[in-house]
Amino acid sequence: MLIRKPADIPYSEVTPKALYLRRREFIQTAAAGAIGAAVALSPRESRAQGRAKLPNVRKSSLSATEAPNSYDDATGYNNFYEFGTDKGDPKANAQRFVPRPWSIRVDGLVKTPATIDLDTFLKPFPLEERIYRLRCVEAWSMVIPWVGVPLADVIKKLEPQPSAKFVEFTTLLDASRMPGQRVPVLQWPYVEGLRMDEAMHPLSILAVGLYGETLPNQNGAPVRLVVPWKYGFKGIKSIVRIRFTDQQPRNSWQVSQPREYGFYANVNPEVDHPRWSQATERRLGEFRRRKTEMFNGYAQQVASLYSGLDLRKNY
Ligand code: MTE
Repeated sequence: MLIRKPADIPYSEVTPKALYLRRREFIQTAAAGAIGAAVALSPRESRAQGRAKLPNVRKSSLSATEAPNSYDDATGYNNFYEFGTDKGDPKANAQRFVPRPWSIRVDGLVKTPATIDLDTFLKPFPLEERIYRLRCVEAWSMVIPWVGVPLADVIKKLEPQPSAKFVEFTTLLDASRMPGQRVPVLQWPYVEGLRMDEAMHPLSILAVGLYGETLPNQNGAPVRLVVPWKYGFKGIKSIVRIRFTDQQPRNSWQVSQPREYGFYANVNPEVDHPRWSQATERRLGEFRRRKTEMFNGYAQQVASLYSGLDLRKNY
């Protein structure tokens, strides 16, 4: 990413100067937005912010066996540039965001393009808990018990056309609700994409919760992508659109810095980021750095998706 850095790199080396300077502008703009939102908040909206347990969540055999990080780690140390560029900003600035009502636009190469209310959209699918490692491209990691549904089940129900080779996801574009979008740190809205076989892989999920509860705003409420063998930036938050296409989508980080971020973004300790090593990572809550595993430890399940692909070129 642009702003944060692995602990061993001086701040000045990581942050392009223009963006560093814009941070001041962001803080001012975000503060003004928060005040505006506070005035506009209705009682129904206030209620929408509470923590709520999700019913009927079954455990998945695809979970990692490692101990999860604390709830505070997972919900207090986030990247969500729509709410600010520091790790504490999303929690601080997203509290008044109201992720309901919410609908998903499904279009492109699909049987029936439609705009579907999120609750209707997800109703057919039983909720599962998936404990996954999350490895950020900035070389920190966490273990998070997500609650979600297999993306493959959702896609099958949507019936993409045989010519669809990729799925593109888009985050909400609304600077009045996401104050970070007033600052051009990225091209808004945030966009991500997967190859169809990656999207259909059993490990890929659409998450609607964590720790058995609904997704906090800072983690991407009401629905976000989780693809555990890829760097965290593939896990696009607050999704409003799913588009099937025959062209490889241009994801936000690749658009922003093509030399540094690619389309695949598979966790790979052998391919360094141009400005830092990807060989090790700092697990939140731990002192000693860990070795980063190929495909974030999911090589056995996903390596075959990339046989014949040069992972140095396709980073
Ligand atoms: N999605 C949107 N819309 N905007 C973002 O800035 N940041 C990404 C990803 N999804 C981001 C996003 C990055 S860089 C990471 S590491 C993960 O969200 C972090 O997810 P978490 O906050 O749930 O840990």
